[in-house]
Amino acid sequence: MNTTIAVLMGGPSSERDVSINSGKAMFTACESLGYDTILIEFEDDILSHLDTLNRVDLVLIALHGGIGENGRIQGMFESLGIRYTGSDALSSAICMDKHISKLLAEDVGISTPKWKRIRKGKTINKFEYALPCVIKPNSQGSTIGLTIVNEESNFDFAIKKAFEYDDEILIEQFIDGKEITVSIVGNEVLPIIEIKPSHDLYDYECKYTKGMTEYICPAELDEILTNKIQQTALEIYKLFKCRHYVRVDFRLDKNDQHWFLELNTLPGMTDTSLVPKAAAVRGNTFEQLVDSIIQQALGTE
Ligand SMILES: Nc1ncnc2c1ncn2[C@@H]1O[C@H](COP(=O)(O)OP(=O)(O)O)[C@@H](O)[C@H]1O
Ligand SMILES: [Mg+2]
Repeated sequence: MNTTIAVLMGGPSSERDVSINSGKAMFTACESLGYDTILIEFEDDILSHLDTLNRVDLVLIALHGGIGENGRIQGMFESLGIRYTGSDALSSAICMDKHISKLLAEDVGISTPKWKRIRKGKTINKFEYALPCVIKPNSQGSTIGLTIVNEESNFDFAIKKAFEYDDEILIEQFIDGKEITVSIVGNEVLPIIEIKPSHDLYDYECKYTKGMTEYICPAELDEILTNKIQQTALEIYKLFKCRHYVRVDFRLDKNDQHWFLELNTLPGMTDTSLVPKAAAVRGNTFEQLVDSIIQQALGTE
């Protein structure tokens, strides 16, 4: 009998639109791979789709952010015995919490920019922090609610903005240098991508508007540095017990020191997203990438 797949997209998070793009691209790939595929879009009503989700062989999760990526939906599927793609509930929850994931990384000696986690309602002494610094919600994505603070006069606004998205925020040391990201599929590390946004910040617009960002893959780094960064990415992937596919974001400073920012357990999956870009450089089509994720989740790869 043919394998049946439900592609799950949308959700209530602030990355809903991005998810719909990933979902549509993955749905098209599943169809051309010959799977019996259904596309499910939900906003708040995931329960009304449970019958369908229970009937298929596999749920391909194309959600980004919020309950779709922080382990809540993964936990529900685990409890119900529904097979799904991507990292499990614990791993997803760890990775969505930047503070927790930085603590774990630091614990094994991986460099991550100095930071302080602040809960809503606490008084903040802005003179404690060296500028520039980065202020961001602890559990967001797509650079939403994030500000690089260069001048003290922007500090309060940045704090207020970050708290609009989360009850916990990070004030983090700014790392001047390059933006790099490392994709992992299965246990294999793909070529590193260097990202050159046209804005100072790799913001929402630069992430999702064609032509706003230049991508260099493989990144022009020497072999020793490339291997070192790829090994760190793999170490983090294993430390956080991730599965199937992830993307690890780093900054690379002027002294070629790489700094771990965060790990995305459900990275963008349109055919122009970063993981597919890196897979293409290694010679894999978008369909092959999607099929690898499916086969890993089915336990056949
Ligand atoms: N400490 C930092 N130093 C320099 N740039 C940063 C720092 N933290 C975040 N950024 C910038 O903001 C972007 C988004 O930050 P990130 O921590 O990856 O959160 P998310 O992608 O989940 O919104 C990064 O890709 C980078 O361009
Ligand atoms: Mg990021």
